[in-house]
Amino acid sequence: MSLEFAVIGSTGKTGRRVADLLEARGHRVRRLARRTTPVFDWEHPEHWAAALQGVDRLYAAYVPDLAAPGSEAAITRLAEVAHEAGVQRIVLLSGRGEDGARRCEDILLASTVPATIVRASWFAQNFTEGVLSDAAVTGVLALPAGDVREPFVDVDDVAAVAVEALTGAGPDHEHRVHEVTGPESLTFAEIAVMLSETTGREIVYVPMGFDEFHAAIAAEDGEDVATLLTELCRETLDGRNVLPTDGVRAALGRAPRGVRSVLAAAATASTPTPTPAS
Ligand SMILES: NC(=O)c1ccc[n+]([C@@H]2O[C@H](COP(=O)([O-])OP(=O)(O)OC[C@H]3O[C@@H](n4cnc5c(N)ncnc54)[C@H](OP(=O)(O)O)[C@@H]3O)[C@@H](O)[C@H]2O)c1
Repeated sequence: MSLEFAVIGSTGKTGRRVADLLEARGHRVRRLARRTTPVFDWEHPEHWAAALQGVDRLYAAYVPDLAAPGSEAAITRLAEVAHEAGVQRIVLLSGRGEDGARRCEDILLASTVPATIVRASWFAQNFTEGVLSDAAVTGVLALPAGDVREPFVDVDDVAAVAVEALTGAGPDHEHRVHEVTGPESLTFAEIAVMLSETTGREIVYVPMGFDEFHAAIAAEDGEDVATLLTELCRETLDGRNVLPTDGVRAALGRAPRGVRSVLAAAATASTPTPTPAS
């Protein structure tokens, strides 16, 4: 009998790709998010059992972040509900260098359901379809990142590793962490130069202080979001994540894609094709 897969966060950056890749390989996929049927909302655990009934393998992207308050209780509960629903493998997306995320990873790895962690560096797609994509419009990439380097990873590679972990042989993936990054570490100033080159618009990197960053986010999105994002930047951009890993190559047998090709592909996709003159 064929396996039933479910994807939590199926409308997001990784989940959409994971679901598409699974379907392209001929698997049945239950796409889950807050407006799907069945529904899956991290805020409403009373619906989780129905959402996971009959699912064999599960991909989960937790929001807002595994380092946020409440995440440990949510992952504990998810593991329990998944076990009761008969789920045989869970692949959880995690963030590299986050102490709170590490605690959630440990909870899942110690749970009854065999689990894989895909622990990713900052996404290259943050600049094209994520929280930092505004930079291409405003011309300013402002972050409390100093001149730290980050090995930005292509979300297509993250999704490909997750799909391998969902579909591959148990001993290669269960009870394991795949730590995935891009091939090279870049500063945010270097990213701004690449964005300028690929979009054809001037984009400058403006390093900010943490307090200044917190105040700017709080004014737009409120205190809780500001605190979470500031702490995430403070934690993950302190130099601990500078070195790339070989996680993509180890899982997929090929090199990870670099940021420039991600940015270039996004710029090409968003450039309207000129209509031929009649
Ligand atoms: N960005 C990075 O650089 C980075 C790096 C490493 C790890 N991560 C981790 O990536 C995860 C986010 O994954 P992503 O980037 O693939 O997703 P995303 O693009 O941020 O999209 C969020 C997804 O979650 C769904 N969602 C939002 N609120 C929800 C709720 N209350 N209950 C259930 N679903 C909800 C959204 O769908 P609906 O709105 O339709 O419900 C959407 O499918 C976070 O845990 C983050 O820590 C991010």
